[in-house]
Amino acid sequence: MGKILVIGGNGFVGGQLCRMGRARGYQVAVADIAETCVDSACEYHRCDIGDYEAILGTFKRSRPSLIVNVAAVADIDLAQRRQELAYRVNVTGAENCARGAGEIGAKYLWFSSDAVFDGKAVCYTEESPQAPVNYYGETKSLGERRVMEANAASVILRLSLVLGMPVAAGNSFLAGMVRKVLGGEQILCPVDEIRTPVDVLTLCEAIYELDSTDFRGVLHLGSTSSVSRYEMSSYIAQEIQADPALIVPLYESAPGKAPRHRNGIISVEKAQRVLRTTAMLSWQGTVERAVSMIKEGGERNA
Ligand SMILES: NC(=O)c1ccc[n+]([C@@H]2O[C@H](COP(=O)([O-])OP(=O)(O)OC[C@H]3O[C@@H](n4cnc5c(N)ncnc54)[C@H](OP(=O)(O)O)[C@@H]3O)[C@@H](O)[C@H]2O)c1
Repeated sequence: MGKILVIGGNGFVGGQLCRMGRARGYQVAVADIAETCVDSACEYHRCDIGDYEAILGTFKRSRPSLIVNVAAVADIDLAQRRQELAYRVNVTGAENCARGAGEIGAKYLWFSSDAVFDGKAVCYTEESPQAPVNYYGETKSLGERRVMEANAASVILRLSLVLGMPVAAGNSFLAGMVRKVLGGEQILCPVDEIRTPVDVLTLCEAIYELDSTDFRGVLHLGSTSSVSRYEMSSYIAQEIQADPALIVPLYESAPGKAPRHRNGIISVEKAQRVLRTTAMLSWQGTVERAVSMIKEGGERNA
């Protein structure tokens, strides 16, 4: 097995990627912006991906064969408020890492989002025209172009919504929802935002499978069917035996929030052709696999 460097490894997807990498026999290193790594046993490099010299120095010291960059300003409303920061991380940082990976001859994998689309079409393929409705989507769209210009061998995974529990911390919708509903708090769920979720375990499996292929370019990863945030949250509530009345349908945009694209319906046909061992699930199967992580986490911590 090779060596993986997970940039943003302290976060939601990064934490799971590190855990799975170790289980598969990879040497695992983490780079992140925080002073320390959430996993104290890990080789750790503190660096800001907005700084090219810092990132190149990290790559040369660590010498990974695979670099996965999950570092991002992934909160859509934060990206709208702090546009300079979002640009630095999601555009400049993504490009810096692509260039640095090319420089040391490592494979580079980065994450985009269905927010690059306007949400008006019925279904989006990898080639559909882009027209983001918020600044986060703009940074991802621009990031895609800059990454491929800097390193044409890059892999860009476009995701709609990632479901699962974090190892330590990060931007997990499911973890936030579970905390709220089990504490008796209501959550407002848009009925007209359709998403194509992937569970974090399937996502990480796909990443490790892609490491053993020559695939380059853009690939959608998600479920084989799509669902509204309201219907998906109601199903999660049922799966975790929470009070269904706490899931409140939202018919209008929430005030003070960045605009959202409506249809995040991404086709995963290409992923089904490219991936031989990682199966894309239905949206219900995706929710069930994500929710199973809550139980497993509970058993581990018991
Ligand atoms: N989660 C989803 O549902 C979803 C959906 C579509 C696409 N995506 C994309 O998937 C990727 C992974 O998302 P995630 O949910 O795992 O994000 P996350 O939990 O927020 O993790 C991102 C990590 O990157 C770190 N980071 C931020 N700025 C950095 C910098 N300048 N240099 C180095 N590290 C930095 C963060 O540190 P701090 O926390 O200290 O800032 C955090 O540890 C992102 O590209 C995201 O846009 C996610």
